Amino acid sequence: MQVLGIETSCDETAVAIVRDRHPRIRANLVLSQLAEHQRFGGIVPEVAARAHLGHLDRLVGRALSAAGVGWDALDGIAATGGPGLIGGVMVGVMLAKSVALARELPFLAVNHLEGHALTARLTDDVPFPFLLLLVSGGHCQLLVVEGVGRYRRLGTTVDDAAGECFDKGAKLVGLGFPGGPAIEGAAAKGDPTRFPLPRPLRGRPGCDFSFSGLKTALREIVVARGGTSALSEQDVADLSASLQAAISDSLVERTTHAIERFHGQHPTGSHLVVAGGVAANRALRASLSSLAAGHDLVFVAPPPELCTDNGAMIAWAALERLKAGLVDGLDFAPRPRWPLDPTAPKATGAGVKA
Ligand code: KG4
Ligand code: ZN
Repeated sequence: MQVLGIETSCDETAVAIVRDRHPRIRANLVLSQLAEHQRFGGIVPEVAARAHLGHLDRLVGRALSAAGVGWDALDGIAATGGPGLIGGVMVGVMLAKSVALARELPFLAVNHLEGHALTARLTDDVPFPFLLLLVSGGHCQLLVVEGVGRYRRLGTTVDDAAGECFDKGAKLVGLGFPGGPAIEGAAAKGDPTRFPLPRPLRGRPGCDFSFSGLKTALREIVVARGGTSALSEQDVADLSASLQAAISDSLVERTTHAIERFHGQHPTGSHLVVAGGVAANRALRASLSSLAAGHDLVFVAPPPELCTDNGAMIAWAALERLKAGLVDGLDFAPRPRWPLDPTAPKATGAGVKA
């Protein structure tokens, strides 16, 4: 079985072709729009949608050539159906639907978060159920993944996502966008103990997250030192290292609570998985790896290029859904919000993202 997957929900135009036999990934092309957005210091939805429109059809053609296959070799075509920036999602969904109609192929609308969630099965065949820390630019959640399309949310952020905290923190210390890789790079030469930053919600029960207090504390330090432009290179390195340590500690502490619940609910569950863009962070991966080892869990983190947004995760999730008989109609409407666990209570707090 072989599926083409399209990802256009944020600022990466990505197309991949994935099959169930090894090697599974036959083509995986990602066009970053970084240059288009950099001068605005963040992602501009309208600019993103237009860039997807300008590049997507060519990228699909290139993916087919890279895999050395034609349309006839495909068993399905998938696109991210949400959540995300709706203009971009519409571009991907319309292209996938058109091909599905013209080539009489099954169409699959994939939840972007399910793409991240199932990547560890593409790379490492992780069995269900597993515990998942999903950390990206828009989401920060702990979930039990019980099966394809079956998620139980244990916790979510009550304000910012972890990736958002990296991005906003980078801006505060004068580093570029996206902030995660910039903070990680600067942190390599920094002292994580020089600036004491808070670990929000530490010691409180439950698996929810909060990052806005951390951002405020960082801003206060920067202001007290005379503002962003007054920071020395060493200040930036130390602030980056301190921020990275605080985010990582906070994620690890909340995950510890989730492990207890996971063990209680699923005594046979054996894996802790991290996914989403922030999962590319090496300090976080190392801390989670020791946490898992201390709790008799196998730790899996996909390779960094499969943590940040890509088409392979969408194609793989679609392939798993196709095998489970879960195909979508051409009347599917793109969804700006699309929680993985619709039964989970709404998180309370400012700026909550599904
Ligand atoms: O999953 P993703 O590519 O897009 C979304 O679905 O949001 O995640 C992007 C986020 C950004 O906030 C980016 O700063 C963060 O992931 N990120 C990182 C690293 N690489 C990307 N955060 C920390 N360390 C990294 N190395
Ligand atoms: Zn993502």
